[in-house]
Amino acid sequence: MNILVTGCYGQLGTALRKVADHFCTHQWHFTDIDTLDICNPEAVEHCFFDKGIELCINCAAYTAVDKAEDEPELARKVNVEAPSILAECCKRHHATFIHVSTDYVFDGKGVRPYHVDDLTCPTSVYGMTKRDGEIAIQQSGCNHIIVRTAWLYSSTGKNFVKTMLSLGDTRDEINVVNDQKGCPTWASDLAEAIVKLIEKHGLEPVHEIYHFTNEGQITWYEFACAIMEIGGKHCKVNPITTDQYPTKAQRPAYSVLDLNKIKATTGMEIPFWRDSLAKCIEEINHKN
Ligand SMILES: NC(=O)c1ccc[n+]([C@@H]2O[C@H](COP(=O)([O-])OP(=O)(O)OC[C@H]3O[C@@H](n4cnc5c(N)ncnc54)[C@H](OP(=O)(O)O)[C@@H]3O)[C@@H](O)[C@H]2O)c1
Repeated sequence: MNILVTGCYGQLGTALRKVADHFCTHQWHFTDIDTLDICNPEAVEHCFFDKGIELCINCAAYTAVDKAEDEPELARKVNVEAPSILAECCKRHHATFIHVSTDYVFDGKGVRPYHVDDLTCPTSVYGMTKRDGEIAIQQSGCNHIIVRTAWLYSSTGKNFVKTMLSLGDTRDEINVVNDQKGCPTWASDLAEAIVKLIEKHGLEPVHEIYHFTNEGQITWYEFACAIMEIGGKHCKVNPITTDQYPTKAQRPAYSVLDLNKIKATTGMEIPFWRDSLAKCIEEINHKN
């Protein structure tokens, strides 16, 4: 199968490049903004035609949640218009589109894990653009799988785990929000899950949404404590409330995603968040 991966130097794209090594029966075509700007319809069409793309995994996105409040047009271009360009191209070329979305499509007022068909109600510009991206893909009528994930981290790029580890080196004490609950996701586990979905659905007709995170649910404070502990940092973590840490974009208070559908469909066992965190920190330590 000819598989196109966009945004391949981001966290998920990098994880997919590693996973692809084990699936060399497929031809993987890895691109990032320098080689394929997904906002450019002619470049996208040329790539699909030239490479005979049969499946596209879109790892490219505008992911700066707070900055999006000041740059709504750019966020919309990358998170809505570009997925629409990719979806239309997939439709023309009879290719399957795998698109990654977010827990921020929900308002976070729920009290139980969000099901894939729960009503979306984003409260930030980023969340709105990701939700509208989902709708554009669904309306295109292309074969598609939308995978919503949350709290993504990896040993590359900028993320909460790496920020905490570096604060652990430089600070004696930090304050972290303890009233937002969700579940972290190691990008490597998400990449594996995407490959399992490809194996399950192949190029058959598909119009599905899945949720994937690691197992368990915690607050950012609990996550920070675990990072300091596993990372061997002697930095005290104090729990605070969201009100004490104002951000430009509103975050969902509760954004746990229900994982039953992906587990039932693929039969996969999803790693517990703490086990994956330990593996990621080991990888980070190994790099340094
Ligand atoms: N990070 C999270 O906590 C989180 C949580 C839930 C869902 N998600 C979703 O998961 C997916 C992967 O996230 P991630 O954390 O891996 O993102 P990331 O690390 O920010 O990577 C995104 C990649 O897309 C590239 N890109 C931006 N605009 C592009 C364009 N026009 N054409 C081609 N490439 C472009 C970026 O390049 P530059 O770096 O050069 O801009 C970057 O390499 C996204 O859809 C995101 O919305 C993320």
